[in-house]
Amino acid sequence: MRFSGKTVVITGAASGIGAATTALFAREGATVFASDIDVAGGEKLAADTEGDVRFVECNVCDPAAIKALMDRAASETGGIDVLFNNAGAGGARADITEVEPDEWDRTMDLLLRSVAMGIRYAVPHMKGRKGASIVNVSSVAAVGPGYSPTAYAVAKAGVLHLTKCAATDLAQHGIRVNAIQPGFINTNIFTSSLEITGEMKEMAKAAIAQLSSNAQPVARGGQPIDIANAVAFLASEAASFMTGTSLIVDGGLTVGPRHSWDPEAPRMFSALEAMEEQMKQAAQAN
Ligand SMILES: NC(=O)c1ccc[n+]([C@@H]2O[C@H](COP(=O)([O-])OP(=O)(O)OC[C@H]3O[C@@H](n4cnc5c(N)ncnc54)[C@H](O)[C@@H]3O)[C@@H](O)[C@H]2O)c1
Repeated sequence: MRFSGKTVVITGAASGIGAATTALFAREGATVFASDIDVAGGEKLAADTEGDVRFVECNVCDPAAIKALMDRAASETGGIDVLFNNAGAGGARADITEVEPDEWDRTMDLLLRSVAMGIRYAVPHMKGRKGASIVNVSSVAAVGPGYSPTAYAVAKAGVLHLTKCAATDLAQHGIRVNAIQPGFINTNIFTSSLEITGEMKEMAKAAIAQLSSNAQPVARGGQPIDIANAVAFLASEAASFMTGTSLIVDGGLTVGPRHSWDPEAPRMFSALEAMEEQMKQAAQAN
């Protein structure tokens, strides 16, 4: 019960990493304000999860909605102890020679401005709270090119720098700020933006699960709970001397892909692209 009596705010909580982190904090005694744009998913999460989980609708591209979320969490409980800036999606897919300005801006709003505004509007409610901590989701895509589309990678690299700047700005208030860099984690993020439905979506999810289990040196797929455990550690007293840093939780993906030692393993990103292409062709044929 590391978080007994604590108030935790999580964005993008209805699925994947956010849902697993919500369940973990709630199990360990926190009151969790689980927010998302997905109202049905968020309400189901709150109903199905053990502990005090309160769903709040919040689109992180809307700063006013972020402020309302933070204000509500504080007015219901007296303040905020932990903020997990997690919401996200794949963003603009085009490469730098073709990306449209609006798509670029939307990606930055979703993945980078959202984190800045989350901090901006949570901090007034975090000052003076013992052990206050912010965790921001970056990605292995921030390590270097080749893990994701360009706009996503740039936004996630921005999250790392924002984390360092915020850590120095907020140290005077006793608020720690760290980031987490997940590797290939088996969630809906890879299929939610594909314009396919029903059976094909299930096929795509199965293909992703298969790919993710072969992608990295550790011989299993990354799961949302792997990230939730690391987030809870960063937010806990055990990490009280850590701020302005980042944890890579990727089963060794950035050290060397599985095919560096396993000749049977698929080349992950070319396999992902091939799968998406197949899905697009199947959707067009239907
Ligand atoms: N899954 C991975 O391999 C991986 C790797 C690195 C980083 N990440 C990051 O982890 C975070 C969580 O992703 P996930 O893998 O759990 O994906 P997911 O698709 O399972 O969950 C993302 C959640 O964010 C919500 N969301 C999307 N846009 C939103 C918005 N505008 N406002 C509020 N909520 C919004 C979605 O509704 C969804 O519930 C993202 O920031 C993602 O970029 C994921």
